[in-house]
Amino acid sequence: MKTLTVLGSTGSIGTNTLDVVRRNRHHYQVYGLVAGRNVELLAAQILEFRPKVAVVGTSDGVSRLSSKLQELGVPRADWPELLSGDAAKVAVSVDKSVDTVISAIVGVAGLEATYEAIRHGKRVGLANKETLVSGGKLVMDAVRESGALLVPVDSEHNGAHQCLRAGNRKEVARLILTASGGPFRNTPREALDSVTPEQALNHPTWKMGKRITVDCATLMNKGFEVIEACWLFDFAPSEVDVVIHPQSKVHAMIEYSDGSVLAQISATDMRMPIQYALTYPDRCEAPVPRIDWSEARQWDFLPPDFQKFPLLKLAYQCQETGGSATCTLNAADEIAVEAFLEGRIAYPSIYEIVSETVSKMPGRNLLAVADILEMDRESRVLARQLVAARAVNPVTV
Ligand SMILES: NC(=O)c1ccc[n+]([C@@H]2O[C@H](COP(=O)([O-])OP(=O)(O)OC[C@H]3O[C@@H](n4cnc5c(N)ncnc54)[C@H](OP(=O)(O)O)[C@@H]3O)[C@@H](O)[C@H]2O)c1
Repeated sequence: MKTLTVLGSTGSIGTNTLDVVRRNRHHYQVYGLVAGRNVELLAAQILEFRPKVAVVGTSDGVSRLSSKLQELGVPRADWPELLSGDAAKVAVSVDKSVDTVISAIVGVAGLEATYEAIRHGKRVGLANKETLVSGGKLVMDAVRESGALLVPVDSEHNGAHQCLRAGNRKEVARLILTASGGPFRNTPREALDSVTPEQALNHPTWKMGKRITVDCATLMNKGFEVIEACWLFDFAPSEVDVVIHPQSKVHAMIEYSDGSVLAQISATDMRMPIQYALTYPDRCEAPVPRIDWSEARQWDFLPPDFQKFPLLKLAYQCQETGGSATCTLNAADEIAVEAFLEGRIAYPSIYEIVSETVSKMPGRNLLAVADILEMDRESRVLARQLVAARAVNPVTV
């Protein structure tokens, strides 16, 4: 029986994680559920999974959650402990009764609890990519020191993790990450000036949270994955290639030194990598569609267009630069994507704001979570100023 805390239980990865738990009740029990603002869904999850502790973003969220539980008629005695804030997120991740943490809060808000879970030697299923993009060195040093088991949930890294089991790390030549190419794969470069948030949110193959979906449209997400892969598997950026594969069935490939390439193939369903992160090194039956090899099919592989998707190139450059560059990259992107989704800036301004923030923020060494959060904060301040300067629909902040 594994005891879990799910960070970001109300999100896309969080609900998929709880579906895996739902189907394997005899293997998993839930200790902690952590959400941001969605108390309606959290209350339903409390009712179904009976965690010991539930955490929300703010104390106001605790009041709303209490009212919701009352409304649902849950007797007080059956309520979990209700908490809010960053210290509570850490506490439910490091509690001694927890052996596994699924890290699926979106953004840098997920960093500290994930880092502390790692420091406490937990098994961590890592979906939150900002943890490694912002704090890769600190986090991987903690993995080495604590002996924590860090298993990637992101489908590409999960695929690479599986392919790497086939050989010795010394025999690996390169990693190939696939990308669907997003909704603008076939959109001419000039037409990108006027694309809308609705178009950017129309991902061809995956259903995910809003920020990551826009990041898929700009290929920023793939850039983050390159950075993540470098940290997770100890690659130089030049050893990681990106290949556009619109069908999203091959998630990653590992090329070994003899030229042999192994690919990981599965349906576009996050429950498979989530379950793998929970069961590794074992495997068990997963409720995901299977590929029907009796049907004829065509899978395409194309090089990425770095001109059309300059954020992908910027991600490689930031990882080469090292230090705090990738932390700034992530912070600026979060601000720019938020402004785009709110209709305050046009699509091309996402790149302009991110690249200008990266070029203007002086780099520094990030030796602690506090350093990362401060760098993140300062980068956001600058990115917000750049948003305000470009805003097509300015709002008063
Ligand atoms: N979705 C995927 O298929 C996928 C694949 C690979 C990697 N990832 C990564 O996994 C992470 C989660 O992605 P997602 O698609 O699941 O995002 P999502 O659907 O937007 O869910 C985000 C979750 O984080 C919670 N949250 C946000 N801010 C919080 C805060 N300050 N404190 C506590 N909880 C907070 C949200 O709570 P409320 O909703 O209650 O506010 C929600 O539960 C991201 O880093 C993403 O890049 C996702």
